[in-house]
Amino acid sequence: MKSETDLLKAQILPDHHQSSPTYTFTESKFKPKPTKSIILLTFVSVAITLAIFFAFRSVIFNRRSSFRYSVVIDAGSSGTRAHVFRYWLESGKPVFDFGKENYASLKLNPGLSSYADNPEEASVSLKELVEFAKGRVPKRMLKNSDIRLMATAGMRLLQETVQEQILEVTRGVLRSSGFRFRDEWASVISGSDEGIYAWVVANHALGSLGGDPLQTTGIVTLGGASAQVTFVSSEPVPPELSRTITYGNVSYKIYSHSFLHLGQNEAHDKLWESLHNSAVNSTEDGIVTDPCTPKGYIFDQNSQKKNSTEESRLTASLQAAGNFTQCRSATFAMLQEGNASFYYTSKFFELHEKGWLSEMIPAGKRFCKEEWSKLKDKYPTTNEEYLLGYCFSSAYIISMLHDSLGFALDDGRIEFASKAGAKDIPLDWALGAFILKTSDYSGKSRKMLG
Ligand SMILES: *[C@@H]1O[C@H](CO)[C@@H](O)[C@H](O)[C@H]1NC(C)=O
Ligand SMILES: *[C@@H]1O[C@H](CO)[C@@H](O)[C@H](O)[C@H]1NC(C)=O
Ligand SMILES: *[C@@H]1O[C@H](CO)[C@@H](O)[C@H](O)[C@H]1NC(C)=O
Ligand SMILES: *[C@@H]1O[C@H](CO)[C@@H](O)[C@H](O)[C@H]1NC(C)=O
Ligand SMILES: *[C@@H]1O[C@H](CO)[C@@H](O)[C@H](O)[C@H]1NC(C)=O
Repeated sequence: MKSETDLLKAQILPDHHQSSPTYTFTESKFKPKPTKSIILLTFVSVAITLAIFFAFRSVIFNRRSSFRYSVVIDAGSSGTRAHVFRYWLESGKPVFDFGKENYASLKLNPGLSSYADNPEEASVSLKELVEFAKGRVPKRMLKNSDIRLMATAGMRLLQETVQEQILEVTRGVLRSSGFRFRDEWASVISGSDEGIYAWVVANHALGSLGGDPLQTTGIVTLGGASAQVTFVSSEPVPPELSRTITYGNVSYKIYSHSFLHLGQNEAHDKLWESLHNSAVNSTEDGIVTDPCTPKGYIFDQNSQKKNSTEESRLTASLQAAGNFTQCRSATFAMLQEGNASFYYTSKFFELHEKGWLSEMIPAGKRFCKEEWSKLKDKYPTTNEEYLLGYCFSSAYIISMLHDSLGFALDDGRIEFASKAGAKDIPLDWALGAFILKTSDYSGKSRKMLG
């Protein structure tokens, strides 16, 4: 039998060998009075170090003239990933396949937003990504293949003038890339766009895209810097949260709400900050306990946190005291500040069936209170930095899904997945952006996004 810690690991570590935990939660078949919904809890991988996903066998290119190519560059908070897609048309409709033959991606760190002080330098890693993409597209096809760059929460957090400076640098690179490119194709997309693209790929994977809107699957995505809630609603929602997209001949009215700063890395940083404040304000010796880090962990300045004197003082005054219950309260208190927006969302998620969410609690409890040295022994192959995050993650998931969004702990329709559908399609919003943009371009469907 699996131990609870193994369960936790299984649930929050699908790609642990090369990714930090970033989560996508998927709600499903949302109906105003939900009857039988499926909720998918999904992982999106955010690699901290360079991660290469192989795709096409580099030597063999099938030169069938019917293949088309498209590139989507996801400029995220922790890194930039180029996705290269190959597709074809059947009866005038694009056919998507995300198997190794037809899809490749490469991620380089750090993210574009880290070039705020030196926008010019953003071109270096971007050029490398463009070269990667060019290596997978036949030369003669370049000028007919779109390349788009979409930046997300990391860039959203920067001042607009800085965003624009960085984007302009990327446009320079993309204009001279040989691919088909228009300046407006390099942009900072909104959180709700991101949510909608994630919704598109999830529903494509599950075969529900193009079908009855009320049979679609809703999603909750917990990324590094932001979190998104996206689902089809047949109930009226505030116009600013409502978007309509058309796929095939079906129109979907989608509720999409993005919570900037509530992504898991941002939230973890924010918690540290508040712990620091209370250390400064309340105790004489300046020592404060961090319930979200397993006991026995020694904080040091070489941690993954950004290097600043502020950070150093913080780490020096923190003591790891892994306690799931306290960590959950602390993260909930933090989420409460955004309560007004969650309140509305939570009304949509009145779902009551058995599920794993309740199992996350004992699993998280065991993990949090375990000695750090024992955890390291138990998971020798897991990156320490990721291992360190799981106590916080487990509490944050409960805090967000149950305490804030109101999912029942015993809801059986919540599932974890990094991939979905019979073909194991990665649930990455960039795939959804490609699907929607390509369907749009083919003229077989229109979208009304943006
Ligand atoms: C939409 O398209 C599908 C297949 O492409 C077709 O079966 C269906 O009848 C169409 N629906 C409408 C309302 O046109
Ligand atoms: C600590 O003090 C700072 C100002 O010095 C204040 O902004 C912060 O809210 C205080 N934190 C707590 C927990 O009282
Ligand atoms: C942090 O930054 C300071 C100055 O910017 C530098 O002297 C120090 O070596 C850095 N520490 C680490 C751990 O990178
Ligand atoms: C964690 O904190 C709670 C609340 O402060 C306390 O009741 C509980 O005993 C603590 N658990 C452990 C394992 O220390
Ligand atoms: C959250 O906000 C709603 C509506 O603004 C309010 O009714 C509710 O009491 C708040 N909940 C908490 C726990 O503060």
